[in-house]
Amino acid sequence: MKDFNATNKKPIIAVTMATGRQGMGVVKELSLRNEFQVRAITRDASSKRAIALSKLANVEIVEGDLLDSASLYKCFDKVYGIFGNTTPTKGLKPLVREYEIEQGKVLIDVVTDLKKKNNLKHFVFSSICKAKDPLNNEPAPGHFTSKWDIEEYLSQNKLNEITTIVRPASYFENFDGDLPGLKITDTNFPGVVRPDKVWQTIAVNDVGIWSGAIFANPKRFIGKSFNLAGEELTGRQMAELVQKVRGKGSKKVRYLMAPRILLKLFVNDIGVMADWIERAGYGADISNLKRIANEEGIEMTSLASWLKDK
Ligand SMILES: NC(=O)c1ccc[n+]([C@@H]2O[C@H](COP(=O)([O-])OP(=O)(O)OC[C@H]3O[C@@H](n4cnc5c(N)ncnc54)[C@H](OP(=O)(O)O)[C@@H]3O)[C@@H](O)[C@H]2O)c1
Repeated sequence: MKDFNATNKKPIIAVTMATGRQGMGVVKELSLRNEFQVRAITRDASSKRAIALSKLANVEIVEGDLLDSASLYKCFDKVYGIFGNTTPTKGLKPLVREYEIEQGKVLIDVVTDLKKKNNLKHFVFSSICKAKDPLNNEPAPGHFTSKWDIEEYLSQNKLNEITTIVRPASYFENFDGDLPGLKITDTNFPGVVRPDKVWQTIAVNDVGIWSGAIFANPKRFIGKSFNLAGEELTGRQMAELVQKVRGKGSKKVRYLMAPRILLKLFVNDIGVMADWIERAGYGADISNLKRIANEEGIEMTSLASWLKDK
């Protein structure tokens, strides 16, 4: 681990869950921007991902745990900004609402204290996309309401004065999971939503690109929140797009929806999420995002380009 108190003049941004999918994107983007020193936080500095991140320019690895406020104080020493993320994944248990809320509470309490001491200037909190149709929000999945409850706690602590909230929709990367039935194949495009239902999605790296732009332009972004998505397509349209990207002569690609009953038996909250996407839907204003992206020089990833690069 590098000495993170080593003198450097760039403002320091600490990135929680740095070895996660969002975190890695944020660290890489901030590294490339060359405007900040990045403190990438992990529970295990010797992991392969942490070692890979440590080789990037402007990046130092520090060990910290979102359940341990003393470790966070060390990670956040003299930082200008923090990218805060939380996870409902508790070991082998995929979606534990209370586990995520516990992390959020520890994180927000430390951030509130740093703000009071006037040490912290910008907090970017990663939540999850809110509903297009709020009247149909209930019942919402527990791993969504956990993040919205943390947002509420953040507001009660008057952190909005230094905060930007980003709320990504479903990642493109979910279509390329490890489990059978959750991976794009020669003939199938997997999903959890009915084939004719529009569904907003985003490349996980774009969370990093947006966060980099947000940290670089605090005047514009502090006090704001953004539902983030790059695409709004039905499952059937996404399957057609895969076939189009593969070109002439490729096999027919069908949209394969996981049976809802199995989903609920396997991980109930994912089934509740699929119901929610169909009923309330992710509510990103994609045309407004494109306008801001254009002004900020952000190139949002299309599903077609993500499929080509994959
Ligand atoms: N999947 C989607 O489509 C989607 C869409 C929007 C939002 N989200 C939300 O995104 C969040 C997950 O982010 P992600 O996808 O970037 O994560 P991820 O790839 O699942 O990685 C989780 C990371 O969390 C770290 N971690 C776990 N427990 C921790 C703890 N107690 N303290 C500190 N770090 C801990 C782990 O790092 P170390 O082991 O190195 O410490 C790991 O790198 C979830 O809240 C999820 O609901 C997901």
